[in-house]
Amino acid sequence: MASSRTTPSGTTSCRTGAPGTDGRAAAGTGWYAVARSSEVGTTPRQVGAGGQPYVVLRTRPGAEVTALSARCPHRLVPLTTATVVDGRVRCAYHGWEFNAEGRCVEIPSLGPVGTPPPRADLSAPWAVEERDGWVWLAPDPTPVPRPPRTNGTTPSPEPVPDLPPPDGPVLDNLHPALEHAWHPVAPAAGLRAGGYLQTRLLGRTWTVHRRADGALDADPPAWGVVEHLGLVWIAPAEPRAELLAVPETADPLAASGWLAPVRSAASAGALADAFLDVSRRPPGRPAPEPAVPEVTHDPDGFSGVQEEPLRARRVTSVHRAPFQLLRREQDLPTGAVTTVVRLLQPEDADSTRVHTCVLVRQAGGAVSPDTLAAALASAAAELEEDLALLARWGSTGLPLLPRDELHLRADRLGVALRRTLADFAADCAAADQAEALQGRATA
Ligand code: FES
Repeated sequence: MASSRTTPSGTTSCRTGAPGTDGRAAAGTGWYAVARSSEVGTTPRQVGAGGQPYVVLRTRPGAEVTALSARCPHRLVPLTTATVVDGRVRCAYHGWEFNAEGRCVEIPSLGPVGTPPPRADLSAPWAVEERDGWVWLAPDPTPVPRPPRTNGTTPSPEPVPDLPPPDGPVLDNLHPALEHAWHPVAPAAGLRAGGYLQTRLLGRTWTVHRRADGALDADPPAWGVVEHLGLVWIAPAEPRAELLAVPETADPLAASGWLAPVRSAASAGALADAFLDVSRRPPGRPAPEPAVPEVTHDPDGFSGVQEEPLRARRVTSVHRAPFQLLRREQDLPTGAVTTVVRLLQPEDADSTRVHTCVLVRQAGGAVSPDTLAAALASAAAELEEDLALLARWGSTGLPLLPRDELHLRADRLGVALRRTLADFAADCAAADQAEALQGRATA
């Protein structure tokens, strides 16, 4: 079959000998056999060539093979989670679409007249070609214009390399800065006077005890143990940010309920980012209304307000470092307000527990049980969607270096989250350093 990507000197056959026995860089040609042709369809398949990860796919059944870099440049999501829609590769997270050459041709959050920036394009290997029932990639220019013939031998594709981590720092669930923060660890209602509970936080097991006088303590000892918003919170070391305030909890007309806590293998940073994200487009969902939140930073986090005229609503998001989040959705015609509070417990490197509270306030007075149940069901569906997406993604932390990802105007809340957490991490490191210096001086 003809090459699906232009090779440097047309299609003149140039036999270069049998492939190397390990199937890599066949006989020094610069061509790598990566998969059997029959294994490549419209579902992106990750392969490796020259140590670089790629995805190979066909943009229509039976079409020529295309090869693209393995990650979406936006949020580094593996493109193995993408789908092919109308001859384009659509990323599973925000629905950016790429043509067979890797050019980004659609970004829903830019609206119908927005133009994707050049940095949104995917890179691609120098050439891809099918020959003798195999798909071959040449990652870099090679003087051999076509892959070698197999001559009846069977190439062995090289192992699929792991996706490399971002260049810059990443905030994962065991980052040392997280010692300096309040973390939710359990519903408080289950802890009676004289009782104990065990919980995981930052890779350690903690035992929380409620004394007879109602006060809480923890083993190992923590800087603070408190009850707040119906949960028990631990601050292992002096926290650098306050607990999240939720004024709705003092509103006698607001109805509230909790989702059962759930676990995710995703990092708390990735879960926080997903919660704040206003431009997601999961598979099967229409493109979201383009929205650009206005962000205001404060010492402990930030808040963002976004107007959505088509849905006649205002959405306010509040973040307190590191993983306390609130989203307040106000229906402008009726004045009804639904508030979702997502509080994240970084248990271990590969485990985050998610606590979710929903509060509903209606302008006309009391909230009916059906209205609250509908709000809880909606929050549960959103959480389930986030967990499913992040489970396929395998994110282990939140990149903090802006240039590791590609940020657009609709990503302001995500940018604010990264900036806040980068400042938080730096602030905590400085505090630890100052404490260490002081300790040495007084020793
Ligand atoms: S569109 Fe791919 S991560 Fe956002």
